[in-house]
Amino acid sequence: MAEPLFTPEEQKKFDAGIAEILSHYPSDRKSAGMLPALRLLQDLKGWLPPDGLRLVAKSLEVTPERAYEVASFYVMYHLKKPGKYVIDVCTNLSCSLWGAEKMLAYLEQKLGLTAGETNDKFTLRETECLASCGTAPCLQINEDHHERLTQAKLDAILARLS
Ligand code: FES
Repeated sequence: MAEPLFTPEEQKKFDAGIAEILSHYPSDRKSAGMLPALRLLQDLKGWLPPDGLRLVAKSLEVTPERAYEVASFYVMYHLKKPGKYVIDVCTNLSCSLWGAEKMLAYLEQKLGLTAGETNDKFTLRETECLASCGTAPCLQINEDHHERLTQAKLDAILARLS
């Protein structure tokens, strides 16, 4: 038998969260709650498992395909289980001019991953502009932003990740 999507505690949080989200929208516009509903699911599970996407779709009275379309548009939503730490390295123009590719290569070598790959601990990705061009080069680890990076700063940041 397939494992249930949620623990009883998670189920309670999901149900309460969906009710709260839907309270902000008219009953014939439930689909407007898609982004926070996906966020709720990801906060509970760490990613968006297919069963969870179907449940979000059902709660918002849309098709599962619609939930997938929205989820797959934004890189912040994880359609595959990520590592404990998701490292998003900006390689857009400002960061590139300040050595982003070298920084990415250093991370690839240090973590033993190529950008786009995941192991249990890390997901390493190239990303678009993180809106911090004036303090390039920068990256984001989960929801923490790091800027004006150097190799020494990267080493110190990685050393803090258990
Ligand atoms: S180019 Fe990297 S933050 Fe904008």
